[in-house]
Amino acid sequence: MVALKKFPTSGDGNTPDDTLFGHIANDLQQQGYSIRHGALPLPIALALFEHQQSLSANKYSEAGIGRHENFVKNEFIRTDEICWINGDADACKQWIDWTSKLQTYLNQRLFLGLFSFESHFAHYAPGDYYKRHYDAFKGEANRVLSVVTYLNPGWNNNDNGELVIYHHDQDLEGTKVVPLFGTVVIFLSEEFPHEVLPATRDRFSIAGWFRVNTSIANAIDPPR
Ligand code: OGA
Ligand code: MN
Repeated sequence: MVALKKFPTSGDGNTPDDTLFGHIANDLQQQGYSIRHGALPLPIALALFEHQQSLSANKYSEAGIGRHENFVKNEFIRTDEICWINGDADACKQWIDWTSKLQTYLNQRLFLGLFSFESHFAHYAPGDYYKRHYDAFKGEANRVLSVVTYLNPGWNNNDNGELVIYHHDQDLEGTKVVPLFGTVVIFLSEEFPHEVLPATRDRFSIAGWFRVNTSIANAIDPPR
């Protein structure tokens, strides 16, 4: 967060950028996270909603912690199920296209050096949760920005299932985000512990991560 603050705001600083991406960049610069309701363009949100509803149960797998050989299923931490997004379906192409425009914009404005993007659909059945966690660990310089969007038409406050973003390690209160259709949440992956509270109905989201390129011994580390 601190690193972002040293960069000037858009352009000459006198012409505020009031586009959605401009607001997101300002939010990230000022507080390290951005919560924007109705931010996902409606046609993309509708296409993704239909696609996610059409995914048969066997496309999902139980979520776990870690990547590849380090993967462990951990019911103590999370109980949702996920389906990684590739560009096969038109809805997913639109999502990848939109996030790639956001990536380009944020790289230009905030010099983040975002290099790749990975994302998955997530389904939380009633009672499912994802306990307090970080999406990335300091020093690993891998996942830089987390992006979450919600595909839940007609969500009510008494449906629960909020995302709680904690502002630092000791924060026990946090900021609650209701998983409303089209809300987009973006935060610095290493800075904000967060959790998903259990809901009383099925809860659908997409979670994604912009990553920097970490090459170790000339071996490129690709998105999964
Ligand atoms: C995640 C995550 C939040 C949400 O998948 O890492 O924190 O609200 N998801 O679905
Ligand atoms: Mn997370």
